[in-house]
Amino acid sequence: GLRRDKTNIIGMIISDVSNPFFPAVVKGAEDTAFNNGYRLFLCNSDNNFAKEETYLRELQTYLPSGLIIMTSDIKGSTKLAEAYRAAGSHVVYVDRLPHQWDGDTVTSMNEQGSYDATKYLLSLGHKRLAMISGPSLLTNSGERVAGFRHALEEAKIKLPAKYIQEGDFNKQSGYEKACFLLQMDPRPTAIFAANDLLAFGAMNAIRDMGLRCPEDISVIGFDNLDLAEVVTPPLTSVEQSGYNLGAVAAQLIADRIRGDGSPRRAHVLPTTLKLRASVAKVP
Ligand code: RIB
Repeated sequence: GLRRDKTNIIGMIISDVSNPFFPAVVKGAEDTAFNNGYRLFLCNSDNNFAKEETYLRELQTYLPSGLIIMTSDIKGSTKLAEAYRAAGSHVVYVDRLPHQWDGDTVTSMNEQGSYDATKYLLSLGHKRLAMISGPSLLTNSGERVAGFRHALEEAKIKLPAKYIQEGDFNKQSGYEKACFLLQMDPRPTAIFAANDLLAFGAMNAIRDMGLRCPEDISVIGFDNLDLAEVVTPPLTSVEQSGYNLGAVAAQLIADRIRGDGSPRRAHVLPTTLKLRASVAKVP
């Protein structure tokens, strides 16, 4: 059939517009797209793969030059993304990737960041470490669990399986999972939460159970949201740059449109542990 020219539109699908981590990713993508002459169309999937696919199908009407996608399901089909690619659009998955995807990606060093956070807790004498993970449906979540486990294995620490609780990357599930962990006997002395919202929920649970952070229990988060500095005590967190995740993805699309035909790129951006008062030596 006729192959129509693409527009200057880049479609972006994010997974949860209410999570304070994602505006930075959008801002990075939008700034970079705009500066390269492209316009960003934003869609929110609410962590719902069916909604993600609906948006992907309907965006076709706009003939986007590129797509930036955060998937909600690592096992989800990439057929639609592949159809875009076959039609000459450039697709980049960011932050949360589908297993099947063999094209461009931008992620953070999830495993390294979690390993660093866990090593830090170990260096302060913690041995009973618990983790509240993200959903096992997401690649970044699995990588964070792997970093945690790796550091514990190196330290020859074996923990009961129940010390890793699967949460949902939101404050409420952080609260619930921490309540469960804090009732265990023996109680963990530190909780590594796979994102800051989970950590905030855990801090509230610690307070509501009459315990103190960090005197009784240390907490580390992941993302380093602006809010991490605002909570009491200020939260130690693994910083990742949401802005750069979005910016690198949009730049990659702009470069591809201008003819960069180099092989698949898998950009992995650095993380840094930000030390604050939510962590203390083992009690
Ligand atoms: O807080 C949101 C989390 O989900 C982040 O850590 C990010 O990596 C995302 O996938």
